Amino acid sequence: MLLLTILLSCDKEEGPTAPPIETPEEEVPADLTIKEKAKFNIGSATTTAALKEPAYTSTLKKHFNQVTAEYEMKMAHIWSSSTSYSWDKADELVNFAKENNLEMHGHTLLWYKSFPGWFTSANYDSVSFENKVKTYITAVVSRYKGTAISWDVANEIFNDNGSLRVDDAVYVTFKDPVAFYGRCFQYARDADPAAKLFYNDYRIALSGGKRYAVKQMVERFKREGFPIDGIGDQFHTLVSSGLASMKSGLKDLATTGLLIHISELDIRVNVNKSDNYVFSTSEQQKQADFYKAIVEMFEELPQAQKFAITTWGVTDKNTWLSDWWHPKEYPLLFDKNFQKKKAYDGFLEGLN
Ligand code: G3I
Repeated sequence: MLLLTILLSCDKEEGPTAPPIETPEEEVPADLTIKEKAKFNIGSATTTAALKEPAYTSTLKKHFNQVTAEYEMKMAHIWSSSTSYSWDKADELVNFAKENNLEMHGHTLLWYKSFPGWFTSANYDSVSFENKVKTYITAVVSRYKGTAISWDVANEIFNDNGSLRVDDAVYVTFKDPVAFYGRCFQYARDADPAAKLFYNDYRIALSGGKRYAVKQMVERFKREGFPIDGIGDQFHTLVSSGLASMKSGLKDLATTGLLIHISELDIRVNVNKSDNYVFSTSEQQKQADFYKAIVEMFEELPQAQKFAITTWGVTDKNTWLSDWWHPKEYPLLFDKNFQKKKAYDGFLEGLN
C-alpha cells in the first residue's frame, strides 16, 4: 500500500519526489585552531623573556604562525651606538621563528619613541641624520633578509587629526618628513626586495583625519615612486569602542588596494580601570563577541588584501596593558594559565 501511495503521489513530469540528498557541508573539524582555520596569518607579539616558558612556546606554536617582536627589534634595543649594534635579542627572536616555521614580522624600523638617546642628543643635521638612518635600516633589514618577511618601516608618524607629530625627531629635522619616510621605505626595499613594507599606526580605522593622512601618504608614495605594500592598524581597542565606525574605516583603508594588517589587537574589558573589576562570564562573552566582530570585519576585506591578524601577546599574564592601563585587565585570547578564553572561541567563530 505504501509503495502505491508513493507512486500515486509522483508527479509524472517531475518523476519520483524522493527526499533531497543532503550534500554534506564542507566538513570543518570541530577542534581547528585559529591558525588552521584562518586563510591568512595569525600572529602574536613576543619577547625573549616569554620564550623561556615552555607552556608559552607550546601555545604560541600551536595557535599562531607569525610573530612580531614586541620591543626587541626596535632602534632603542638594537642601535647601541653610531658604529655598533646589539643583535642578540633580535637574533634570538628571529632564530626561534625560523626554527619553528613562524613568519617573522619586523617591528619597527622607525618610531619617534624609539630613537636611541645617543642619536637624539647628537642633534644631527638632516644629511647626517638620513645617512645614519639609511645605514641602520640597511644593516637591520639585510641581516634578517629572508626571515623577516615583512617590516613596519614607520610607526605612528601622525596624530589622530592627521597632522604630523611635532615630538618626532624626523619632524624637527626635515622640512618634508613624509618624503624622508618615503626614502626610508626605499632603503628597506633596496635591502630586501622581497620583504613586504608597511606603515603602522593606531586608530587609523577610527580616526578620519589620521586615515585621510595615511591615504594621502600612500597616494604620494605611489606618485613619487616610493615603495609601500601594506598598512597596519594596531586595533588596541576598548570593548566599548564603535564597531560600526571601525568596520567602515577598515573598508575605507582597504580602498588603497594595499595589504591590511590588524597588527596589535587586544581588547580591554576593564574600561573604567576599576580596582573592583571582575572578569565575569558576561564580561568574557562581551569580549568574545567583540573579537568575533573584528575578525568578521577583517574577513569582509578582499582575500588578497588580508595580510594577518596579530594579537599583541599570547596570554593575559604578560600583556603590556597591566602596566599601561590597569593590573586587572584581560585583553588577549589565553588566560594566565594558557587556557583558551571565550575570546578565542569568538575569534574562531569570526573566521570564514
Ligand atoms: O623586561 C625588560 C627588563 O628586563 C629590562 O631590565 C628593562 C630595561 O630596559 O626593559 C624591560 O623591557 C621593557 C618591556 O616593555 C617589558 O615588556 C622595555 O624596556 C620597554 O621598552 C617595553 O615597552 C614596550 C613598548 O612598546 C616600547 O617599546 C612594550 O612592551 C610594547 O608592548 C609596546 O608596544 C607598542 C608598539 O611597539 C607600537 N604600538 C603601541 C604599543 C604599545 O605601546
